[in-house]
Amino acid sequence: MIPWFVGAVVRRSGKSFLRFTGDIDTTHIALAGRQRGGDVSLYIHIPFCKTLCPFCCFNRYLFKEDQVRAYFRDLRREVDMYAALGFKFNDFYFGGGTPTVLMDELSGFIDFLRLKFEIRRISLETTPRELTPETVDQLKQLGVNRLSIGVQSFDDSLLKAMGRTLFKGEDSIQKIKLAQGKFDTVNVDLMFNFPTQTTEQFRSDIKIFKDLGADQATFYPLMPSPHKLDALTKKFRRVDTKREQQYYEIILQELLDGGYKASTAWCFSRGDLMIDEYIIDYDDYIGVGAGSVSFLRGDFLVNSFSLDGYHKLIAEDRLPIVRTRHLSATEQYRYYMLTRFFGMSLNTLQFRQRFDSDIHDRLWAELLFFKTAGVIQEKNGIISVTRRGMYPVGTMMKEFFTALNTLREYCIEGGI
Ligand SMILES: C[S@@+](CC[C@H](N)C(=O)[O-])C[C@H]1O[C@@H](n2cnc3c(N)ncnc32)[C@H](O)[C@@H]1O
Ligand code: SF4
Repeated sequence: MIPWFVGAVVRRSGKSFLRFTGDIDTTHIALAGRQRGGDVSLYIHIPFCKTLCPFCCFNRYLFKEDQVRAYFRDLRREVDMYAALGFKFNDFYFGGGTPTVLMDELSGFIDFLRLKFEIRRISLETTPRELTPETVDQLKQLGVNRLSIGVQSFDDSLLKAMGRTLFKGEDSIQKIKLAQGKFDTVNVDLMFNFPTQTTEQFRSDIKIFKDLGADQATFYPLMPSPHKLDALTKKFRRVDTKREQQYYEIILQELLDGGYKASTAWCFSRGDLMIDEYIIDYDDYIGVGAGSVSFLRGDFLVNSFSLDGYHKLIAEDRLPIVRTRHLSATEQYRYYMLTRFFGMSLNTLQFRQRFDSDIHDRLWAELLFFKTAGVIQEKNGIISVTRRGMYPVGTMMKEFFTALNTLREYCIEGGI
């Protein structure tokens, strides 16, 4: 009941949250660059994959070598524009798509970043299929600290249902073994509540992950965008969100009760390892590349999703931002609360430092509701998410991502 209620509220506010406009005024970005300098992380989107998975809701295109090379050139120009505005990045997150689709371009791009910025850490996503002993060595030499491998499942029949037919579960196991111990953190992405998936298959996936002794797992509930929901419903059975909590309970039993630490409501690590959500670590982040989103001083900035649109704006020496949305003060408090709760705790002193006000005054009704519902507890200025609160908090984040997916679908369909 509580997760349903929380989800419904976030869904409703998510719709207004993401009511974007096309009026782009970049003067405040320049101001933020001068004021914030290095206190911003950089997300780099590489929207290419060698094959496209039918369930995927991210902005991705089928690999074409020429297009990828041109795209990396544009990325450099976009980073240069932010550097010229005064931004200094130290923390980098490569997401996709598949950032490793063209290793020489990736390598050249990281070298380019190293010449411009002092790199503190690099997080990077890849597929098991792309991992070879050579790429693992290259990524290590390039200074990648955290490698995230999109396994989804080790079960061959489920992989087939997902449309990931070219790779077997056993191959993923070998690839994880190959990467393990070579990076500060090796993360494994697994999906749950996929149509046709059974709880037995899911338990088996978790057992394999634990037996492998990998550092970290991130569990994604299937998040169909409205467009993909139709395709999925037709292709498989109905996507049943009611089963989701049952799967999440298995995660809590196996990971949280099994001694893993929750870095986020979806990410479980052995010990104090890096976390994977750049939106949790930093108050502000810049996203570069087609379809990336930035959050800067209360503004959401959305880049062009279309490869042509992205290229055209860069060629005109303009930031490729096509939609913006300024959050009201209350929306900013709520967004802060959402991201910190997803990261399992909120420091009330940090809230005060960021907003110059007390969270107990600003969000008293929300805090009262969450405390009464047993979602959070507070001690010594730290509001932490309870075990009972983890599923509702994950639901809040899923609704937020779903709202972003709706925007993404809208922009992709409109060629924006
Ligand atoms: C953007 S992908 C990049 C990883 C890599 N391309 C791969 O698939 O192996 C990051 C993760 O998002 C998750 N993901 C993709 N589509 C999803 C969807 N529709 N719902 C929930 N999670 C999804 C998958 O677990 C995937 O590993
Ligand atoms: S799940 Fe990964 S490999 Fe599949 S289409 Fe999405 S980004 Fe590409």
